[in-house]
Amino acid sequence: MPHFDVTAQQIAGLAAFIHTQRNLALAQKGGRRGVDVSDLQTGNAEAGKQYFDGAGGCATCHSPTGDLAGIASRHKGLELEMRMLYPGRAKSEVTVTLASGQAITGTLAYRDEFTIALTDATGVYRSWRTSDVQYKLDAPVDAHVDLLSKYTDDDIHNLMAYLQTLP
Ligand code: HEC
Repeated sequence: MPHFDVTAQQIAGLAAFIHTQRNLALAQKGGRRGVDVSDLQTGNAEAGKQYFDGAGGCATCHSPTGDLAGIASRHKGLELEMRMLYPGRAKSEVTVTLASGQAITGTLAYRDEFTIALTDATGVYRSWRTSDVQYKLDAPVDAHVDLLSKYTDDDIHNLMAYLQTLP
């Protein structure tokens, strides 16, 4: 990046300008600085429970008294909502079958159109060209990606309300 030829006085002027604009923006009525936990309390917990046990299919993978027990004390507000919408840390299992017929199963380490890679049981990273092998992916968390196109706003708010009641 080329360096700017500005004087200290011009920089001070610029900084003052940015601060003034920021203060003006913060002073606007209704100006939001983020999402507060209270912003996420518009749902109906009972409707959320019904969706969880029924249409959402959540109960096929999760249990309110098992893995999700106390979830709202571990994660709050927007962070909880993000975890529900896009769980990040889930591991997927993949089985790669080589042309020889040998099958290797491990934790999915990388996948794109051209490459499939796993970490095998001994911790070794192995990768193949997708054109050379067959593979089968078991990624339960993909259910969350499918859900993104199914939820209504109300479903999400209701689920949030329900999750926050879990003991
Ligand atoms: C096919 C299985 C499956 C379905 C269906 C499913 N999930 Fe998940 N969910 C997962 C997996 C796998 C993870 C990631 C593992 C983890 O973080 O516990 C996850 C993570 C989560 C998390 C984050 C948990 C944490 O501790 O960070 C929440 C909250 C959650 N799901 C809620 C839901 C809700 C609500 C539904 C229904 C609308 C749903 N899930 C449907 C498999 C599923």
